[in-house]
Amino acid sequence: MNELNVALVGCGFFGKQLALSFHKAGANLVGVTDINFQLANQLAEKYSTSAYIDVPTLIESTTPDLVIIATFNYAHMAPAITALNYDCHVFIEVPFALEPQDCKQIMDLARSKNKNVFIGHLLRTLPGVMKAKQFINDNILGKITVARATRQRWIDSALDKNWWKNDVKLTGGKLFNEIHELDLLCWFLGDITSVYAQSTNRAHPDNLENHDIIQLLLQFKSGVFASLEMGTAYRLHEWGISIHGERGALVINFYNSTMTLTLSDGTRQQFNLYDEFEADLSLRESGKSIQKYNEINALAPLWLSRASEIEVQTVIQHLTDNAVSVLTEQPMDAVIVAHAAKTSIQRKMQINLA
Ligand SMILES: NC(=O)c1ccc[n+]([C@@H]2O[C@H](COP(=O)([O-])OP(=O)(O)OC[C@H]3O[C@@H](n4cnc5c(N)ncnc54)[C@H](O)[C@@H]3O)[C@@H](O)[C@H]2O)c1
Repeated sequence: MNELNVALVGCGFFGKQLALSFHKAGANLVGVTDINFQLANQLAEKYSTSAYIDVPTLIESTTPDLVIIATFNYAHMAPAITALNYDCHVFIEVPFALEPQDCKQIMDLARSKNKNVFIGHLLRTLPGVMKAKQFINDNILGKITVARATRQRWIDSALDKNWWKNDVKLTGGKLFNEIHELDLLCWFLGDITSVYAQSTNRAHPDNLENHDIIQLLLQFKSGVFASLEMGTAYRLHEWGISIHGERGALVINFYNSTMTLTLSDGTRQQFNLYDEFEADLSLRESGKSIQKYNEINALAPLWLSRASEIEVQTVIQHLTDNAVSVLTEQPMDAVIVAHAAKTSIQRKMQINLA
């Protein structure tokens, strides 16, 4: 395969970013579609390509190698199934889907068609995070004992609670909408056997269903215990993962844009998460301000834009150079655990996944 032909479904905030990332990486954007046809037209014009009325028309007219899906969280499944049925590879934005059986259906179809499913877990491909994964795989920490992940920040009450990003029925809730750290725990530490979760809303009374404090207690098949604490009711921002083992500890701090390895012999090594100073700086700056969800016409900040470009490079290398992208590994795990956590919250009990 020489030049990769890609088609885009969903031309909103992140669809635009993905179009740019694939374009910069040398892929050929052959066409786009969106239920908001004006948005599709605007993006098509920017890349001198065409907008199509729906997914089948897009694929039949452009015969892409890869279909990129950046629609609302609850609307990933239908275009993915259509694209696979037309024998295309698919790149699906996170969260993969809101129901584990939808992920399974997509994976089963992809397997039967011998096609790749890439999930947009873009934090995995940051250079510093890849290095952390390598340290874990190389057993540098020894037997891992315990891990802790956080995504704690403040987001002001939303004026428009009907906006899909504020509607828990459409996003799946924050655990799905911000699934990155749960995914990293699964990717780093393997199979989870049980989850206990609790959540509440303390600071956003205008949208009570959308919980702003979420806490998970996780047990892994390996015996590792972990916790994840996330939400938007935390005035003091914290965003990272720490993993402790018998021989040392790894700390990924997204607000410092660093990964630090401290060993029990007292040695310490620190790495930046990006290979470019400007992207590290942009991520560091992002921790300072009150955050908000990105609106349809917003531009991605530099750190997010670079993260998207890096993940897209791995997708292109996978499809053109047989270099396996980590975006194909353990695609469903985070959704399975997030779904179990939701059940745990509803039933107020620990859920076994074994
Ligand atoms: N990886 C990341 O860090 C990251 C960042 C932002 C968004 N996302 C994910 O990207 C996806 C899109 O988010 P966004 O911020 O771009 O939202 P958005 O609302 O800005 O854009 C979504 C677009 O999809 C279109 N759309 C919805 N359903 C459709 C369908 N069935 N067919 C065609 N078009 C459809 C909408 O009209 C809209 O233009 C979400 O799943 C979100 O979680 C991931």
